[in-house]
Amino acid sequence: MQEFERIDPSPDRGSFRVVALWALASAAGGIGFAVAFVLEADVAVLGILLAIALAGMAAAIRRYVLATYPQVTGVEERPALPTEAGSAGQVEGVVTAGEQQPAGQRMGRRTILVAGCGIAVGLVAPATAMGPTRPDIGLRTRWSDGVRLLDDEGELLSPAALPDGGLDTIWPEGPDGQPVREELSSVVLVRAPVDRLRPPTHLDGVVDGNLVAYSKVCTHMGCPVGLFRAGTGALFCPCHQASFDATAGAMPTFGPAERPLPQLPLRLEDGVLVAAGEFIGHVGPTTGLRPREGRPTPAEIEGSE
Ligand code: FES
Repeated sequence: MQEFERIDPSPDRGSFRVVALWALASAAGGIGFAVAFVLEADVAVLGILLAIALAGMAAAIRRYVLATYPQVTGVEERPALPTEAGSAGQVEGVVTAGEQQPAGQRMGRRTILVAGCGIAVGLVAPATAMGPTRPDIGLRTRWSDGVRLLDDEGELLSPAALPDGGLDTIWPEGPDGQPVREELSSVVLVRAPVDRLRPPTHLDGVVDGNLVAYSKVCTHMGCPVGLFRAGTGALFCPCHQASFDATAGAMPTFGPAERPLPQLPLRLEDGVLVAAGEFIGHVGPTTGLRPREGRPTPAEIEGSE
């Protein structure tokens, strides 16, 4: 009979406690990822939690396998099976004894299953962001009536600041007097060709006769709209060449965009430009639109032409 030694780690309860710890860390990471995703946590936080979930699961499985199936090469001594008639009960007893799992092993396997459930919860969470279930995303911006317009240098704007044919990128003023550089709140302020503005532009939200503001976020896939052809009043998105008519409510005139850039109504207060309300319409490439109460839908805007 060949002698052999069991190689570490041995299948003792300590090994399976380590399995359980890794598995619980994995479950915590998976559930934490789901919670952080729903709370719209920073992407770095999401990455760390997902890494904990996956690494914990990998470590738990590895430890479980090593503890359950030790790295052993050898011949194990076994008791002779009863061979005489009538000894079936004894054979069954020997086999059943061999199938029984130590309590630690069962604990390890169960905690791995718990960790799997935690990861499953984490992987299902992103599904909540799919499809038309979050149509309010494009409605959360910093603009409201009375919020002052700031340029990229953080300066207040008077109508004279923008010459004929000019375009400027605008941000809302924050509580500290600095521009709030949130993508969904970015605006292009353009000086449209004189006497060319017409519906569906909301003319009561225009200052100086031809100073009009639209969301800078393209309604196709969200790139910044940053090019303006003064002669025709066309705004362009460089990503996929969508074109919008700034003289007519920024309706799309060419390319893949299907919705107009929402207009930000303006007014003057103490000689500087301020918002006269929120965006009229949804910002960005939101699908499954559910208009905020009191706001016109794109179809209504088109119908008012
Ligand atoms: Fe603007 Fe595609 S993102 S055209």
